[in-house]
Amino acid sequence: MTDLCVRAPAKINLHLEVLGLRPDGFHELAMVMQSIDLTDTLRLLPTADGRISLQCDRADLPTDGSNLIVKAGEMLRARSGFPELGAQIILEKRIPIGAGLAGGSSNGAAALVGLNELWGLGFETHQLHIMAAELGSDMPFCLDGGTQLCFGRGEQLEALPFYSTEHPAVLLAKHPGVSVSTPWAYGLCKELRGDFYLEAEADFELRRQALRQSPLLLAIAGTKQWPPLRNDLQLVVEPEVETVRQGLALLHQSEQPLAVAMSGSGPSLFALFPGLEQARKAHGDLAEQFERYGFESWCCGFSDRGVSLIQ
Ligand code: C5P
Repeated sequence: MTDLCVRAPAKINLHLEVLGLRPDGFHELAMVMQSIDLTDTLRLLPTADGRISLQCDRADLPTDGSNLIVKAGEMLRARSGFPELGAQIILEKRIPIGAGLAGGSSNGAAALVGLNELWGLGFETHQLHIMAAELGSDMPFCLDGGTQLCFGRGEQLEALPFYSTEHPAVLLAKHPGVSVSTPWAYGLCKELRGDFYLEAEADFELRRQALRQSPLLLAIAGTKQWPPLRNDLQLVVEPEVETVRQGLALLHQSEQPLAVAMSGSGPSLFALFPGLEQARKAHGDLAEQFERYGFESWCCGFSDRGVSLIQ
């Protein structure tokens, strides 16, 4: 029996703007998401016992039916009409858990792509996108990855070119003892900022258009300086979570970062630098402080793709 490996990269938010509330209770968003080359790996082995089992090298990650990998596998199998299909899945985890880096969503997207191939189902990309959107708001982005504008709940994607200019490098920091629940962060946002939410679709569209024409997109294209990054969830999470404030302060101490922000609903934080050399230098300069405050940290680059089969 042949096995198959899939790479599942993390993402950061270069922009996260909460526009308003949707009739389905989710938030209407305008985001720019960027894949980074911090990746998990899934190894998939086919079985014919109708079971999808998951093993992971991190004991603190649930491997039962609550894991998006198992949910994705079960959805794919149910829609295939072949209940006997099974798989043993081994997850090698590098992306921090509960960090705002879409690690779980990327794992789920990798399971959709990998099991579709392993089981020879032949679902097309647009069908995988529909399943991904049902499983989680960030999951459609994780399928394609790269640099994308993400609207709606996050599932309406407009790909941006992956420019040939030198891309910024990322220095990531996360406190291992802290994770932030996404529903909690959005709930807090609604409580504190709900009075200022937009309501009309025409107003949402004006904000989408403003983002499409923003200085941020020119910075990503390499033709303008990086503006300060906007993350509306950071505005509500930062005052509540001490390690987010500490991590941001540490990253701001580094030598000339292009920008510093929280990713997603946090608590991971990142600084952008003109290239890997500068990011690695900042990493070295901050190593002692990261250790003193108990932060884990990583240096990585932007990536032009989402989940991919390893040949
Ligand atoms: O779609 P996902 O499962 O990732 O969302 C997790 C939770 O985050 C939702 O249940 C909701 O509370 C919140 N959320 C939201 N608006 C979005 C995305 C997520 O309110 N656009």
